[in-house]
Order: sequence, then C-alpha cells, then structure tokens
Amino acid sequence: MKFSKFGQKFTQPTGISQLMDDLGDALKSDQPVNMLGGGNPAKIDAVNELFLETYKALGNDNDAGETNSSAIISMANYSNPQGDAAFIDALVGFFNRHYDWNLTAENIALTNGSQNAFFYLFNLFGGAFSDNKLDEHSQDKESQSIDKSILLPLTPEYIGYSDVHVEGQHFAAVLPHIDEVTHDGEAGFFKYRVDFEALENLPALKEGRIGAICCSRPTNPTGNVLTDEEMAHLAEIAKRYEIPLIIDNAYGMPFPNIIYSDAQLSWDNNTILCFSLSKIGLPGMRTGIIVADAKVIEAVSAMNAVVNLAPTRFGAAIATPLVNDDRIKQLADNEIKPFYQKQATLAVKLLKDALGDYPLMIHKPEGAIFLWLWFKGLPISTLELYERLKEKGTLIVPSEYFFPGVDVSNYQHAHECIRMSIAADEQTLTDGIKVIGEVVRELYDEANSQNY
Ligand SMILES: Cc1ncc(COP(=O)(O)O)c(C=O)c1O
Repeated sequence: MKFSKFGQKFTQPTGISQLMDDLGDALKSDQPVNMLGGGNPAKIDAVNELFLETYKALGNDNDAGETNSSAIISMANYSNPQGDAAFIDALVGFFNRHYDWNLTAENIALTNGSQNAFFYLFNLFGGAFSDNKLDEHSQDKESQSIDKSILLPLTPEYIGYSDVHVEGQHFAAVLPHIDEVTHDGEAGFFKYRVDFEALENLPALKEGRIGAICCSRPTNPTGNVLTDEEMAHLAEIAKRYEIPLIIDNAYGMPFPNIIYSDAQLSWDNNTILCFSLSKIGLPGMRTGIIVADAKVIEAVSAMNAVVNLAPTRFGAAIATPLVNDDRIKQLADNEIKPFYQKQATLAVKLLKDALGDYPLMIHKPEGAIFLWLWFKGLPISTLELYERLKEKGTLIVPSEYFFPGVDVSNYQHAHECIRMSIAADEQTLTDGIKVIGEVVRELYDEANSQNY
C-alpha cells in the first residue's frame, strides 16, 4: 500500500514517536518503572474529587429530568464549529472579570486539545504564502509564493511543535543566553533568556519570511518563565513585523497556574493565547481554548468544521460551572500550584543530595511540571544516558528532541540535558532520582579516572 506525501510525512517514524512508544510500553509493563518521562499531569485527590462531583452533577442538573441535563445536551448534540457556546460565554465572563480584556464570544474558539490548536495555527501562519508585495514589484506579475516559518524565540521548546506542519518543517529558532542564577539562595542553577540581538538579526525575520512568533510560558521542557520584559519585547517585534505572537499557556495563568515567578498575562488583538484543560487534570477531555482576534477565531472555526465538524463538548460541560463561579481558579491557586511547587522543592533537594558534588546544573524551577537538568561535560550524550537509565527502570526524556528548527549536531548543550517530570508520587521521584544519581556519578567517575 502506498501513502501520499502527506501520509508519509505523518507516518514516518521519528525519534520522538519511538520514544513515546517506549513511554507507553513502560506503563503497560509488569516491571516497576520510575516514570519521570511523560507529560501527564499528577493525580491530585482534591482535583479529582471536584471533577467527579461536577461530572455526577451534570447528569441531574435540570428539574425537567435527566434527559434535559447538561450531560445529555453535551453528548447528544454537536456544537457549532467554534465550540460549545455556554463554555465560550463562561470564558468570556471569566477573562473579562479577571483581566478586563473586553472580549466577546467572537474572540474565543475551542479545539480538541491545544495540540490540535497548534496544528491549525502553525499551518495558518507557517508554510507557503502568496506574497502580495512580491507580486507588486515582480517584472512578469506572475503569482509568486514565499515560505514562512514560525519563529521560536527561545529554544529548547515543546517537543509537540516539531512535526505539525502539513508540508515540511517551518521553524526559525533562536538559541538562548544561559545565565547562572541562584534559587532560594542556593547556587547550581541557570536560567535561559531570549537572545534578542540574534533574534532581531535573523535574515528570515528581516526578509518577511516569519509568519508568527510562538513560545510556551511556562516552557515545556525547562520550567522557564519568560519575564514580562521579554514578553513585551516579543509583542513589540511581532507588531513591528505585523505578525501574531502566539503564547502557549498550557501551564500558565489563570489555570492551571503552575507558575512561581512574578509574571503577568496580557492579551491584545495581535496576541493569540492558547489555553488547555489538560494540565488542570483533564487531558483525556481533549479541550483547548484559543483567545484571539475575531479573524483568527473565524479561521480556526472553519478548520474545526473541516477537520472535526465540531470540537468535543464534554470537557466544556465539566468546566463551565467551574469557570462560571471561579472554582477553576481556586483549584489552580489552592491545590494545583502548591502541589507542583512542593514537588519541585522535593526533586531539587533529592537531586542536590544525589549529585551535589558533580557538575549538575538545574534550570531555575519557575513553573510547569518538569525539571530540566544540565550535566555539563557529560562523557556520553543524554540520548545514550536515556538508554542506560531505561535499562535500570527509570524513564526521562533526553534533550535533543526539544530543539525544533535547530541543527543540534554542533550544539553540545543540546546533548547534555534531560527533562524529568515532577508529577510522579514521592516514592517514584525518590527512586528515579536515586537511579539518575548512581548512573551519572558512575559516568563522571569513570571519565575522571581515565584522565589520570
Ligand atoms: C507546552 C505544551 N503545549 C501544548 C500541549 C498540548 O496539550 P493538550 O493538547 O493536551 O492541550 C502540551 C502537552 O503536553 C504542552 O506541554
């Protein structure tokens, strides 16, 4: 059987698809595995109780009987392609109440998870464009096309962006400045910062070959939170070049609010904000939320109609009452954020105990559900380290997958880091970090003994 180019693009094995299979197999295995590899949110009792309670209430929330309940209305009807209207209204009220953005229902569309949103947005703003300016000055006035990329202002970035373009890979990526910083008064930490000089000098930006700028904030994989100044600078560049700034807020404010640094969330017509219900604990509901200018929302709704008819309504049904009365925000502030902050503190302590005397640097934990570890001068690549850890029943994700748009063959740093999830329970974190400590210490010790 032969597949089209489109089919081949989406079915060819990639490093990351193999890795994801490994992670999936590990979960099915009967051997105990220290799963520090995936992006699944933690099981938090208070969170699950609230979702279960809300879910049960959906079945009998109407005096006219179960058949008129919210559960039946959501399950038995398509919404329009923009998404569940009651949830969109609840979100409009919520964002205007908390941020004063002056949104209307025309500014919000729903998608089947935010991964689905990135598929739409990266193909809307990256790929082949017919270029009016080129046409205007062209000698022969033939229609011409220009290829535009999505600019990632700070890599490492989210692995899931890598393969979403329908044709090719369209990224222009900027490598970070690496600053050594302290965390809670302790040394041994670093923080990535946007290299604005390199960004402003990118030929693709100056030549009009960038279609949008995109960053995750907090960032998956590093837990970095771009500062308000960095965000304002990116917004200014986006406006100057008349391209949108896409902010992936999967871990950000106001839900799940897994963010510990001092940061503000802004929106204007040139900003596309992407939210998700996944990291508050509902990844199986596949619900993404886009807040953007009405023109973008119209385009996303049209794509929803073709690809999905309409987005799923079940996550919307569960989240609507929680958004209407702000319980979603209380849940994020009082349960989700403190949970991950505690996990990050524990994981940092365990890592320092295990590797304090070795060249371990940890990215300053500022948010998200991961720690990003840098083993400077590690004698093997972290791809090989991944294999060694896997043999000992511990799964992490090696760094080289997190550089979409970068040729990592000559960038040593991209082979020296790992991402570890902090969503696991305390025992798994303890056992997993113990294995990482043993394996990494042995590697450095062996290399040192050979140097004498
Ligand atoms: C930064 C980031 N963006 C987007 C997504 C996609 O999330 P979902 O499609 O579950 O909303 C993820 C999932 O891990 C993520 O980490």
